[in-house]
Amino acid sequence: MKIKVASLNETKKLAQAFASLINEKGMFITLTGDIGAGKTQFIRYILECLNVKDKVTSPSFVILNEYKSSLCPIYHFDLYRLEEKGLKSIVSELREYSKEGNLTFIEWAEFAHDEIPNDAFKINVYYDEDDVDIRWFEFIENNNNKRFIEELSKKVTK
Ligand SMILES: Nc1ncnc2c1ncn2[C@@H]1O[C@H](COP(=O)(O)OP(=O)(O)OP(=O)(O)O)[C@@H](O)[C@H]1O
Ligand SMILES: [Mg+2]
Repeated sequence: MKIKVASLNETKKLAQAFASLINEKGMFITLTGDIGAGKTQFIRYILECLNVKDKVTSPSFVILNEYKSSLCPIYHFDLYRLEEKGLKSIVSELREYSKEGNLTFIEWAEFAHDEIPNDAFKINVYYDEDDVDIRWFEFIENNNNKRFIEELSKKVTK
């Protein structure tokens, strides 16, 4: 499913709809796509909805940020600046964070290649080819997230 986003406010609405479908079982979400397309902003709005009070920054310099929420533990990775060596050690840990009961976001998941579990919820965020003010969020369907995407679609198209 692809959702067109034309403003920060629309990103916020999409994030609110997404957040409302997350439960205490958590999720393992990967974000790929164009540089600066709005991955961190989307995560920031989701965490706002989940009542995370800490400031959500891009974890590029620390690789991993951890947040507390009454729902479940939340982890936010950014693999962009990882060196080859660091990448090897971190990707083996990614599976740990994919366990049920964690809400985990991986920005720049393209750097983790094959280490991403097959059942991860994949989101691709990119700029429109013709209009620089338009961004697209593509939610990639798999066997585990069909219902979630259906519900999300209902919420954002109504
Ligand atoms: N829908 C939107 N409309 C307008 N501006 C936006 C939108 N989404 C994000 N931005 C702005 O674009 C800039 C980059 O956003 P953000 O940091 O979320 O992108 P990113 O995909 O995480 O970037 P990076 O590839 O560096 O990780 C920020 O200034 C953000 O406020
Ligand atoms: Mg980012």
